Amino acid sequence: MKRPKKNILVIYHSQSGTMELMANRLAEGAVKEKNIAVTLKKAADTKLDDLLNCNGIAIGSPEYFGTMAGMIKDFFDRTYEAAQKKTIGLPFIVFVCAGNDGRGAITQIERIAAGYKWRKVQEHTRIVGTPTEQNLVDLEELGQVLSAGVDLGIF
Ligand SMILES: Cc1cc2nc3c(=O)[nH]c(=O)nc-3n(C[C@H](O)[C@H](O)[C@H](O)COP(=O)(O)O)c2cc1C
Repeated sequence: MKRPKKNILVIYHSQSGTMELMANRLAEGAVKEKNIAVTLKKAADTKLDDLLNCNGIAIGSPEYFGTMAGMIKDFFDRTYEAAQKKTIGLPFIVFVCAGNDGRGAITQIERIAAGYKWRKVQEHTRIVGTPTEQNLVDLEELGQVLSAGVDLGIF
């Protein structure tokens, strides 16, 4: 029996291209699941409706000054009040790039996701320095796992 098509939202911010590359690869993996539509957007361009219409979200942020990029925080600031009650239980994953750490960004995003009551469905990814090809392959797999889990209703 055909299952209804579901949506994965991949949001990210990138200043010098590292996270853009990572988000692209994660989205390429997510779209491999035929029954899933993938929306890949910069956080600054992401609207409340993108969030309300998704069945799973992947959040990609560089670490800036020990925390998430300001535009990722801005997305949370803009959507929290309207989306919080409507997205309880939303499956989410976080992937972070950093010059030397990245843990601060992950911790802060997790705190906010807990406020929305979203559900962490995979270990978060933290890449320090320039991503290797293996890092990017792993991100593709992560995107596909998120898609497959959402499609099958496992997540
Ligand atoms: C303003 C600024 C602040 C940064 N702060 C941190 C930091 O606190 N910890 C860290 O590990 N890397 C830090 N970095 C390095 C970035 O996280 C890293 O270069 C990342 O790959 C940038 O991603 P992007 O190319 O997608 O913008 C900072 C970079 C910038 C530009």
